[in-house]
Amino acid sequence: MKNIVVYLLFVIAVIALFGFAYSIPAVDAPGKNIFVDNKCTMCHSVEVAEVTSKKNDAKDLSNLSADLTSDFLTKYLKKEESLEGKKHKTAFKGSDEELQQMVNWLLTFKVKETEN
Ligand code: HEC
Repeated sequence: MKNIVVYLLFVIAVIALFGFAYSIPAVDAPGKNIFVDNKCTMCHSVEVAEVTSKKNDAKDLSNLSADLTSDFLTKYLKKEESLEGKKHKTAFKGSDEELQQMVNWLLTFKVKETEN
């Protein structure tokens, strides 16, 4: 009986370890996939993340300015907010959850306040 408990604990530990290892590279990947899947690359690149655009004069989103917040970007990408008096070209088509994941990913490339 004791052996079975030990065996089961071992199996659970192995599964937990694998689950953990696989979750690490996924931390920033979903946002990147959402960005690519939503054709943001038609007009933007994110060079730090090796996301390139077909457009020659694409705006690189590798260093978003420090004053862009998560709250602002989610609204801006739904065309509920303007940046420099202009609404964004396209409205995000996915779910709010996807939008949040993608914005979180983009914000990892935000210029640090101290670099201004
Ligand atoms: C049809 C072209 C087009 C598409 C598609 C597009 N954008 Fe934009 N985006 C623009 C233009 C034009 C601006 C204006 C800002 C500029 O060029 O400085 C902009 C600005 C932005 C900004 C603000 C950048 C800054 O620092 O001023 C973000 C963030 C952004 N877009 C994200 C996205 C995301 C995410 C997607 C995909 C859901 C997307 N864009 C799809 C054209 C596009």
